[in-house]
Amino acid sequence: MPAYLQCIEEVCGERQEPGKDSHLCLRCGGLLEVKYDFSPMDPDELRHTWHQRRLSGEPVDRSGVWRFRELIPFVSPGDRIISLSEGSTPLIGTRRAGWWAGPVHLTVKHQGVSPTGSFKDLGMTACITRAESRDVRTVACASTGNTSSSMAAYAARAGMKALLFVPYRQISAAKLAQALDFGALVVEVGDTFDEAFRLLRELAGELDLYLVNSINPFRIEGQKTIVAELMEQRGWRPPDYIVVPGGNLGNASAIGKGLRELKELGFIEKVPRLVVVQAEGANPFYRLTKEDATELVPVDTPQTEATAIRIGRPANWKKAKRALEWTQGLVESVSDEEIAQAKAVLASDGVGCEPASAATVAGVRKLCQAGKIERHADIVCVLTGNQLKDTEYIMRHHADEKSSRLLRAEPTLEAVRRVLEAPLAARAW
Ligand code: F0G
Repeated sequence: MPAYLQCIEEVCGERQEPGKDSHLCLRCGGLLEVKYDFSPMDPDELRHTWHQRRLSGEPVDRSGVWRFRELIPFVSPGDRIISLSEGSTPLIGTRRAGWWAGPVHLTVKHQGVSPTGSFKDLGMTACITRAESRDVRTVACASTGNTSSSMAAYAARAGMKALLFVPYRQISAAKLAQALDFGALVVEVGDTFDEAFRLLRELAGELDLYLVNSINPFRIEGQKTIVAELMEQRGWRPPDYIVVPGGNLGNASAIGKGLRELKELGFIEKVPRLVVVQAEGANPFYRLTKEDATELVPVDTPQTEATAIRIGRPANWKKAKRALEWTQGLVESVSDEEIAQAKAVLASDGVGCEPASAATVAGVRKLCQAGKIERHADIVCVLTGNQLKDTEYIMRHHADEKSSRLLRAEPTLEAVRRVLEAPLAARAW
């Protein structure tokens, strides 16, 4: 087996034997990553194989993660792959949003079009497959809602029990409903994700829980395959920038690792710059990079309407920092108002997403205005979650009497004509 776990701390670098996975270095407590002794690959041949697999009817070939399995060779022959045909998400040109944000050449990689509606499915298929190979009975996570829906679905499929900690009344109803629908046991605890996560981590050993949060390095492996799919969709021409929202910073870490490996293995020449965008009220990583600090200062009470990224103590910040160094990346911070504007502009392109996802486009606009991203740059924003993940947000933003496009009329022709008269005359909506 060419895979092993290694501590990312330079002063440590301890290699861990693949036993029952512990997600942190047993020597220094640092984050672990999956490393491979990749045998030499022929990029052209593999590109061809990956392409051919799209025509196959085999479930592992239909998955946009396992189709690229040569990049994640941690599975042993005979291991059961737990998949829901994740990946294969569309790349969509967004002309209006590109004009608004730059002008830049903007496309979105829509991860909201995934089995459970978010990008988490890519990492979850890898992580639950790993758990299955370890005979895990109960998986657990703390979540702002998407990791948990994904965990619950994949655990159900694998026949495992799923236990979930969420901050009380801080995640969208749709996400909570998904987890319940897939059979997870849910504990509402604490006011923030960080609090729920801390409690879960403390209890995990005692309760024999297998954690599937993004500190689990196998999550990162599944998630990193997005870059291979993205490059393939673009004929292996890398964009100038790839933009993601930043919460617990697993996605930024995964994309950084994916890009680095694709470069090292000879699949791409140029490495796109990674851009991480955080919400202003939950932006510890932005502050860290702005101040060029060496240690992250957590935000104790993170605030943002984009609840998916309301996180003050991102567990993967060290991996994400490395990803920025590898890709000469950038970090931006945007207000909730800017997120709402970006979401509306994407909607005008017919593209719906959840608020956290729209932060990417808001971030591009801000970086363009500051001259840090050049006009007409070729940019891919990763839309991480589906529009229907947070309908409360949408309804809240359309409840305003003045701007409302939600009209109400008595059920008579006259009354209906009356409410439509002004908007139709002005074509003003
Ligand atoms: N966008 C969405 C829709 C998310 O759900 C998340 C994270 C992120 C962006 C940020 O990604 O954590 O890798 O930096 N959601 C996690 C969850 C924390 O529990 O669902 P990240």
